[in-house]
Amino acid sequence: MASKTKPEPLSPVVSPDEVREIANRFGTPVYVYSQRILEQQADSALAFPNAYGLTVRYAMKANPNMNIARLFRKRGILLDVSSGFEAERARMKAEIPYEDMLMTSQEIPENLFGLVEFGLDYNACSQHQLENFGIFFPGKEVSVRINPGAGSGGTNRTNTGGESASFGIWHEQLDDVFRLARKYELNVKRVHTHIGSGSDPAVWQRVAGMSLDIVARFLEQGHDVRTLNLGGGYKVARMSYEKATDLQECGKPVKEAFKEFARDKGVKLGLEIEPGTFLVANAGCIIAKVIDLKRTAKYKFLITDTGMPEVTRPSLYGAQHPIAVVHRSPSDGEREPERVIVSGHCCESGDILTPAPGDSEKLKPRWVEGMSRGDFVVIGGTGAYCAGMSTINYNSYPQSPEVLITGRGIELIRKRQTLEQMTRNELVI
Ligand SMILES: Cc1ncc(COP(=O)(O)O)c(C=O)c1O
Repeated sequence: MASKTKPEPLSPVVSPDEVREIANRFGTPVYVYSQRILEQQADSALAFPNAYGLTVRYAMKANPNMNIARLFRKRGILLDVSSGFEAERARMKAEIPYEDMLMTSQEIPENLFGLVEFGLDYNACSQHQLENFGIFFPGKEVSVRINPGAGSGGTNRTNTGGESASFGIWHEQLDDVFRLARKYELNVKRVHTHIGSGSDPAVWQRVAGMSLDIVARFLEQGHDVRTLNLGGGYKVARMSYEKATDLQECGKPVKEAFKEFARDKGVKLGLEIEPGTFLVANAGCIIAKVIDLKRTAKYKFLITDTGMPEVTRPSLYGAQHPIAVVHRSPSDGEREPERVIVSGHCCESGDILTPAPGDSEKLKPRWVEGMSRGDFVVIGGTGAYCAGMSTINYNSYPQSPEVLITGRGIELIRKRQTLEQMTRNELVI
């Protein structure tokens, strides 16, 4: 049974033998992803309940390695990009056409004109963005991101809706959108709401209803809205005691709401979702090494050669990741669990992998199997917002490599950064 007092099981991404093999071949720390799990998650997302058609977009900010976006693209998953750089990266490195991308960004990219000319779909997230789009593209179709007035995230830092969130156009300012759309003869073809990462499914369902009401207001104004994008944010269970959102359960009432909307308004809306975490979080882990063990009067500290530069989430918002021990030698027998604080190797007291849940300021000792220096720790649930959201090069530790376990074996998909690469753009005067 799931327990907070027993060591967490090893990530399903790797076996103990693979941990030792990957560490020997590529060194530590190293990110590992499983193609099998990525594909399973893709298939579950593609089965999301819908009434009149579904588009799934991968929120590539969750993990921008282009092998992952390509793998999803092969299964028919399009892209959610959050900057002009992400769009160009996906085009250049993964050869994903701009027509397959919807851009939802806090910033207008410098190359917006070219991106839209090449087919990128633009989601205006503020009045300023919409006006700018109208000036460049009068008469064109556009999407708008609305802050529906409610949000929900796994932590306050990942809540992107409601009055404390700056994302999207506040729902009480729709008149601004109607005015700008009239001024530049824009048709709003898609309404978008994304209320947070790790959101409560009940809030997400309620916001789906509120979003349909927003679509109705656009229809009343003569806009030909054909799609409602309800964002991502579906909760995954990284720790064995956490409960994941069941996409089938979560989506069913929303499917019914779309049908009712069609009966009332005569418009059969397509559903769009854009998960990041759901697709990649549990398909990834980090293999690191135990480099030291220390004690204070209160705690036993296990120091690892990873930390904030590979996985910033615990220090940023007290995120919990499972940590399992794999002994250096397969012949080492099982050892008694101990309660330890797992720490990173950065000169920063906040570089802690076992903070209190939701409170990065506090420590929370964790049960892990007994270990010695040179053993490995595997940090699970690190496929999302880890490699792509790191405090890269703090203390001049190089960016870590990434490997993908495919049907062909264990393949390197990003090399470890060299010191020369780290300092290449520095000019010594
Ligand atoms: C606009 C938008 N869509 C989708 C996502 C993906 O969220 P998640 O990774 O929680 O599924 C995000 C994440 O921040 C986002 O900002």
